[in-house]
Amino acid sequence: MNWRNTIEISKGVYWVGVRDWNRRVFDALIPLPKGTTYNSYLVVGEEKKALIDTVNPGFEKELEERIGKTVNPNTIDYVVMNHAEPDHVGAIPYVMALSDKAQLLTTKTGAKMAQTYFKVPEERIIVVKDQDAIALGGKTLRFIEAPMLHWPETMFTYLQENKILFPCDFFGSHVADGFYDEDLEDLLVYAQKYYGEIMMPYSSMGQRAMEKIRGLQIEMVAPSHGPIYKNPSRILDSYKKWVAGETKRKATIVYVTMWNSTKKMIQPIMETLSSEGVEIVLHDLVSVDVSELAKGLVDSRAIVLGAPTVLGGAHPLAVYAAHLVKALRPPAMFGVVLSSYGWGGGAVKQLQEILASSKIEIVGALEINGPPTEENVGRIIELGRTLAQKIKEHDGNNE
Ligand code: FEO
Repeated sequence: MNWRNTIEISKGVYWVGVRDWNRRVFDALIPLPKGTTYNSYLVVGEEKKALIDTVNPGFEKELEERIGKTVNPNTIDYVVMNHAEPDHVGAIPYVMALSDKAQLLTTKTGAKMAQTYFKVPEERIIVVKDQDAIALGGKTLRFIEAPMLHWPETMFTYLQENKILFPCDFFGSHVADGFYDEDLEDLLVYAQKYYGEIMMPYSSMGQRAMEKIRGLQIEMVAPSHGPIYKNPSRILDSYKKWVAGETKRKATIVYVTMWNSTKKMIQPIMETLSSEGVEIVLHDLVSVDVSELAKGLVDSRAIVLGAPTVLGGAHPLAVYAAHLVKALRPPAMFGVVLSSYGWGGGAVKQLQEILASSKIEIVGALEINGPPTEENVGRIIELGRTLAQKIKEHDGNNE
């Protein structure tokens, strides 16, 4: 791709977005080691022109320049707002100021957000409902409501004639590299991270959306982050498994240790699970990459949490991890909590309380004083065997 070129991804459909190579964090939480993209698409019909989503604030001129390679930005008729988060809507006021006649197409909830957050005047908004369509002349945009994927106002747009689905964040990935899916061999790694971080908490809504688009002929999936899928089955098949909460014989182990006692408790359970044929993903919470953790949780059947007691409760990093696990709502069914304390316990109780409202069944917990004794290690190995048994019993029984 040439610098600041626009790209015709299908007849009359142009990518006019931005690659943000330098962004390193999203939502003040998610690391972006390979940056991200804000994909915006221009659809040129025989009579009307529509822009599907825009870009992050700060990139307005780049967007304008790219649109200008194909049409005069002053002549855009519609701006489709699939989602109201600023990384896609930030440039909407700018685009609508360029084109006086442009009207915003969005859901009812999106209309309120556009007025509140982006000061789009009510008279310039057209509210669309599920399955409404708008004709551009030889091109028809159909709207599919997809609430809570991942905000309440979210919708997808389907371009009937070109058979392209524009699902905004859904099916997205945070990576600036690659333009089409075939350009990036490990794209699904980024897609799985993205799913775990952003969409996993809303898996039931994801299932509904997958059901809604099941009958569509989709030849291309053009999300708002990351490469465009010319081979849609690559991402559609993965999402089918992820939204269904399909898990593997896999355990995510997260721990923090101060003087290695908790680490010495993690070692035997990890070895036991591994020798029982359970795949292990291990994270030291001091250096954990949240997106790696989220990725592993997408298909882990169990979680092991290890933390010392400090200052009267679980180590703060473990409290953070437990809250994160609860919030991400992974499909894991079983858990074990391990802890070591110096002169007073409390970590296990606190972590179990945090996880109590999740669907994770804590199959065992152990809190010990100081480094593990041989007897403690024996108990941990037993816990590992129990957990492995639970994991294996669930084979072929995915939700
Ligand atoms: Fe890419 Fe939810 O914004």
